[in-house]
Amino acid sequence: MSPEAGKTDAAVVVRVPAKVNLALCVGPRRADGYHDLATVFQAVSLYDEITALARSDGQITVQMTGEGSEELPCDQTNLACKAALVLREWAGDATRHGVDLRIVKQIPMAGGMAGGSGDAAAVLLACNRLWGVGLPLEVLSELGAELGSDVSFLLYGGNALGLGRGERLTPQPVTGRLEWVFATAPRGLPTPLVYRHFDEMADRGAIVPDAELSPDALDDLCSGEAARVAARLRNDLQAPAVELYPQLADTLEAGLAAGALAGLVSGSGPTCAFLAADAASADVVASRMAATAGGVRDLRRAYGPVDGPRIVTGRG
Ligand code: C5P
Repeated sequence: MSPEAGKTDAAVVVRVPAKVNLALCVGPRRADGYHDLATVFQAVSLYDEITALARSDGQITVQMTGEGSEELPCDQTNLACKAALVLREWAGDATRHGVDLRIVKQIPMAGGMAGGSGDAAAVLLACNRLWGVGLPLEVLSELGAELGSDVSFLLYGGNALGLGRGERLTPQPVTGRLEWVFATAPRGLPTPLVYRHFDEMADRGAIVPDAELSPDALDDLCSGEAARVAARLRNDLQAPAVELYPQLADTLEAGLAAGALAGLVSGSGPTCAFLAADAASADVVASRMAATAGGVRDLRRAYGPVDGPRIVTGRG
C-alpha cells in the first residue's frame, strides 16, 4: 500500500504558546512520587505549530521539524502521539480515526517551557476538531492532565494559578504585558531528574520544601507591572537545576549584567527567563547577552500573557 493510502484532505492547524512559571513553589515529594505545587503560569509568545491531517486507515504518525526536534522520538512514546491516542480512546473508534501530525517547533525541547505539553494540548484541540469529537475544553483539560501536569494550563493559556500537580487551575487575568528574554541552552534537562535532585537537596537540608504562595505575592505576580513581578519571581527548582547544570549560574548573572530587572530558571530548566522593564530594554538585554553570554544556544524575545492555543485554519 502506498504511504499516502488512507489519508483524506481534511486538515486542522493549531498554534500553541510556551509557558514560564512566575512562581514555582514546590512541596515535599508525595506518596505518588509527584510534588504539590503552587505555581503561577504565564503563556508567552513563542509558538509551536501543529498541523493535523486526517487519515482514514487508523494510523497515527508524528513528524517534527525545528528547534531541537532532532532529539525527539517520533513514535508512540511521544507526548503528541499519546494525546491523539488518549482522545481516540475517548472517542471510542480506533479503526476509523487516524492522523498525520506535523509539528514545527519553536519552543525549546526539554527546556522548562512546556514544549512537549504544549504540543499535546494542541493535538487534543486539533484532533477534537478534525475527528468531530466535539469535547468541551473542560473535558479536554481533564484528558490533558492525565498526559502531563502542564497540559491543562496549555489548553487555556493566559495567566493562571496552578495547584495540586499544577493541573488545578484558577485563571488570573492580567492587564499589563510583561517583556521577556529567554536564553535557551545547548542541551535539555529532564524534568524528573530535576525533581529527584530537589528531593536529594531536601534530604540533605539544602532546601526546605514549601508549596505556599502568599496572597500578596500572587497579587504582585498578577499585577502586570514588571517591577512588582520582578520582586516576586520565585522558582524552587532553580537551585537543583543550577546544581545539575552549573553553567546556568553564569547565564543568570549575564542577564542581570545586561540590564534585566530579574532572571530565573524557567520551570525545570535549563532555559533562563529574564524580565525587562519594557520592550525596548528587553531588546537591549537580548542584544547585550548575544554579545557577552557564553554557553547559551539562542536568545528569544517574547511577551506574555498570551492566549492559549488557537485553531489557525481548519477543514473537516
Ligand atoms: O506531569 P509530568 O509528566 O509533566 O511530570 C514529569 C515528571 O516531573 C514526573 O514524572 C515527576 O517526576 C515530576 N513532577 C513532580 N511533581 C509535579 C510535576 C512533575 O514530581 N507536580
